[in-house]
Amino acid sequence: MTRFSRDFIFGTATSSYQIEGAYQEDGRSLSIWDTFSRTPGKVFNMDNGDIACDHYHLYEKDIEILKTLGVDSYRFSIAWPRIFPEQGKFNEAGMNFYKKLIARLIESGIKPAVTLYHWDLPMWAHEKGGWTNRESVDWFMEYAEKCFEELDEHVEMWITHNEPWCAGFLGYHQGVHAPGHTNMEEALKAVHHILLSHGEAVSLLKGKFASATPIGITLNLSPVYPASNSANDRLAANNADGYTNRWFLDPVLKGSYPVDMMNLFSKYVHSFDFIQEGDLEKISIECDFFGINYYNRSLVEFNAASDFLFMSAYSDYSKTGMGWDISPSEFKELIHRLRKEYTNLPIYITENGSAFDDQVSDDHRVHDSERQDYVEKHIWAVAELNEEGMNIAGYYLWSLLDNFEWAFGYDKRFGITYVDFETQERILKDSGYRYAEIISNRSI
Ligand code: NOJ
Repeated sequence: MTRFSRDFIFGTATSSYQIEGAYQEDGRSLSIWDTFSRTPGKVFNMDNGDIACDHYHLYEKDIEILKTLGVDSYRFSIAWPRIFPEQGKFNEAGMNFYKKLIARLIESGIKPAVTLYHWDLPMWAHEKGGWTNRESVDWFMEYAEKCFEELDEHVEMWITHNEPWCAGFLGYHQGVHAPGHTNMEEALKAVHHILLSHGEAVSLLKGKFASATPIGITLNLSPVYPASNSANDRLAANNADGYTNRWFLDPVLKGSYPVDMMNLFSKYVHSFDFIQEGDLEKISIECDFFGINYYNRSLVEFNAASDFLFMSAYSDYSKTGMGWDISPSEFKELIHRLRKEYTNLPIYITENGSAFDDQVSDDHRVHDSERQDYVEKHIWAVAELNEEGMNIAGYYLWSLLDNFEWAFGYDKRFGITYVDFETQERILKDSGYRYAEIISNRSI
């Protein structure tokens, strides 16, 4: 048995577009995901977030679930198009939703952890070039400033951006996320502006607002391993690590982009002059914590035909419903590497979880033993990491609810609460009961 200290934070996480629905309510304008999900061939079954978990109307019910779980904190994101449906036009009605949500969380003894950007860029911003336009930094700052002004008093933790790799590379290079572009130069610009807006938002909160609320960024990190020990496979692993991890870790925590990757990317980029003097200093501003979303390791092999010379390799690990390797010990290796090469900041696991093909049984329960096992293994790893002195300050399970899983629509269920999308009934899964038990015992 391993114990967690009293101040360790257990939570669950969600994001606005994935759960809220109410896509036209109280003055919300459209985001790139509203448009992308309506584009044939982009999202499984052409699902969209119009209704999702209807959390916009059912948030009180969802907070009751959080209370049943006994979480210390709840991580959610704010929908930018609710706050600024048009450029420069603040929408109070949209902000009121988050005020109500936060007030109810606090009343319930749950600490609000708020993500500013979890991928629902307003369409008005996209129409002006989205994140590829350097002005996006100013647009984001206007939005961040309003959120800080209205909410900082009650927020316990700010996360500027969630997984810039997805917003940048899946959105602008691979084209599988909104806005669905496939241009590496655009992707690199988008990432750069996202990271710059992170740095600027941190400095705004600490400067103008003189706030003591902890602020940081969340990166998705996946430790990469070569399929064999051949020089080619090791090169492939290095490049995959650069593409997935170092391109984000280095600027944020070291103030530079990795040179080997700049060389590799330069084939697809006219010039790197979008990286202006002083930008990297701003991007690497000191934060209060470092957020990590961890799901799986990656195994790669050399492929001469692929852009960056790597592709996924066959792995014999057990997999989740996403086909992702279940890899808790590689999670531990990742944290050790971060401690050695990158940061001493407190680390929050801002997401960890798994999708499986859940069914409601005759007893009207969801016996998701595979997810329960996944969660136990990863929480166990966190406990061990802390025994090894790795200073993991908290763990947020993804997700509180089954929800809109981006390009996979409602086909992939990550919740510890089952959602019947026809009736909006919620059923706490066995993994949810087990999580509640771990939290209440503060041990595993
Ligand atoms: C990370 C993302 O932040 C979240 O939105 C997504 O649903 C999960 N990964 C699962 O893929």
